[in-house]
Amino acid sequence: MFSLAGVDCLQRGPRNIMHYFTNVTETESYKLMEAKLTREQANELLHKYVKGEHYITHSYAVEAIMRGLAKRLAPDDVEYWGICGLLHDLDEETCPWREDMATHGPTSAKILRDEGFGDPVMENAIMAHNPQCGKNPETTLEYALIAADPMSGFVKAIAQIYPDKKVASVKHKSVNKRYKETRFAAGANRQFMMLIEKTGISWDEFIDIALESMREIADQIGL
Ligand SMILES: [Fe+2]
Repeated sequence: MFSLAGVDCLQRGPRNIMHYFTNVTETESYKLMEAKLTREQANELLHKYVKGEHYITHSYAVEAIMRGLAKRLAPDDVEYWGICGLLHDLDEETCPWREDMATHGPTSAKILRDEGFGDPVMENAIMAHNPQCGKNPETTLEYALIAADPMSGFVKAIAQIYPDKKVASVKHKSVNKRYKETRFAAGANRQFMMLIEKTGISWDEFIDIALESMREIADQIGL
């Protein structure tokens, strides 16, 4: 199940192996990191570093989608995937991303380490959601996060078209229709959203998972 590059990587140590193996091995790797940071601690960290309501609700939406994806891709790590989503923009109000986009991601990783929650798997996932920082997505978790991030904003943008502005009003076919309109919610990176297919989940499944996951917490995210 691995390429020559994977064999090469095997010789460099266990940390890299998970990037090249099947989902099962990858999931087992996450378990090694389990329980370092609880959801409650993660939520406290989020509120310590992020004050803007928009960023908080965005973080909850990405957390919900990540949990939905984990139920399919890594059922033993639903909480862990959710926390990665919850904290993916932890440095949004701390790093100077407007001047230097490469700081977005590594700054979150530094915050986690400084707070005593250093975790290479989580740090890599957070950095890989912004490849401009120099980290490209490679694992299932990393592909899920980079896809979930723009998807949450995209679904929100569609919901806001409806009179009630509710995610409950968003239909599967509306997501497909708006996806093709490149000028609609142009900030939602279509290429990143489509990276979901690297996880084995189809685009159509992804739409259903995102809608269902965001509907479950609609009150919390004002949708
Ligand atoms: Fe984000």
